[in-house]
Amino acid sequence: MHHFQYRDGALFAEEVDLRDIVAAVGSPVYVYASATITRHYDLFAKAVGAPRNRVFYAVKANANLGVLQTLAALGAGADTVSEGEIRKALAAGIPAERIVFSGVGKMAHELAFAVEQGIYQVNIETEGELDLLNRIAVERGKRQAAVFRINPDVGAGGHAKITTGSSDNKFGISFEEAGRLYARAANLPGIRIAGVATHIGSQITDVAAFEPAFRRLRALVETLRGEGHGVERLDFGGGLGIPYDVPYPFSQGPALIEAYAGLIERVLGGLEVERGFEPGRLIVGNAGILVTQALYLNPRPARTFLVVDAAMNDLVRPAMYDAYHEIWPLREPAADAERQRYDVVGPICETGDTFATGRSMARVAPGDLLAFMSAGAYGASMSSSYNQRPLVPEVLVRGGEFFVTRPRQTYDDLIGQDRLPVWSA
Ligand code: LLP
Repeated sequence: MHHFQYRDGALFAEEVDLRDIVAAVGSPVYVYASATITRHYDLFAKAVGAPRNRVFYAVKANANLGVLQTLAALGAGADTVSEGEIRKALAAGIPAERIVFSGVGKMAHELAFAVEQGIYQVNIETEGELDLLNRIAVERGKRQAAVFRINPDVGAGGHAKITTGSSDNKFGISFEEAGRLYARAANLPGIRIAGVATHIGSQITDVAAFEPAFRRLRALVETLRGEGHGVERLDFGGGLGIPYDVPYPFSQGPALIEAYAGLIERVLGGLEVERGFEPGRLIVGNAGILVTQALYLNPRPARTFLVVDAAMNDLVRPAMYDAYHEIWPLREPAADAERQRYDVVGPICETGDTFATGRSMARVAPGDLLAFMSAGAYGASMSSSYNQRPLVPEVLVRGGEFFVTRPRQTYDDLIGQDRLPVWSA
């Protein structure tokens, strides 16, 4: 569920009329509802048994400082994949001892930063990384807690590009290698291997998809323990999906979260381990929208293009994953409003800049404001300034208040990043 609802015909984020936000910062603009972030985090944390078990919010889904600060106050940790994400988590008040560092290609300076900060855990994905991390920790007189990310050869997810658990995917160490690397790590003074991690994919809406991977994980823990290795932590990654295609009005209970927690209990119950989780989309996906304004209608014999002021640089998911986002008008249409089909497109100079094809909507006129729903995860965090379009602002709502947590990038910011070369000859 989420906190974007019509009131007296106008779309609100919590207690704030979205038109007030557009009046203040213009369009396009990302708007996040703290209440939804809080609700989803609390539901998830309770279901998986936090704080005994640990929730590391996947920063990649939405790295806005206001969003991170909201989660920090709820007790969330952070799952990070770059030094930039670690720095953002720290800046938002998530302490190092609640941060894990994942990723296939961590660079030496990033590992050094993580070790110096004293983060909770590094999720190691290759033997080369194991050795590098050991060296970096030893040089600093530290012993870094780490887990091995295992590739369970069980892929799942809403799109081939976001499936990670198959052996054909680049992620993780194979099952067969885990025992050998565990044994090697035991002799490395800079590292303490605390357990194993996995992450099989994203936008998984049927928890049954996790079961084979979790069964393999259990078998692995038992094998490793049989070989005398300590396994005190199990990190399940993220991946739980959200409903993208539920039109207004709707309500959605915490059924998926409960099914997931139930599955883990059933498959891994009785193993004495601390459980870690890295949910991203589930926490913030339905907590955010991208508000856009209709610019032009371009009627053709076979279709009508609706050109809006947001584009694929602002929200790339439809172009990249053929993702579906609901589009709601900010002014609630009458129940019997005339409908029309539109191809909703942005201003960018490629055909891929299409948000929806043949979408049936209440008639739209230039100037109307619309919201791409469920854009809180992998929306702003994947945006760019392609076509030299400034990054759009991000606004966090809490109750009846809103705060511009990221102002719109200015043209001076945009151009000032570059330097005009000065040649010596
Ligand atoms: N942990 C690891 C190691 C991950 O690679 C990911 C996501 C997560 C946690 C969080 O997964 P989530 O709970 O959000 O599914 N840009 C794509 C999604 C990419 C997901 C990448 N990894 C999209 O817009 O659908």
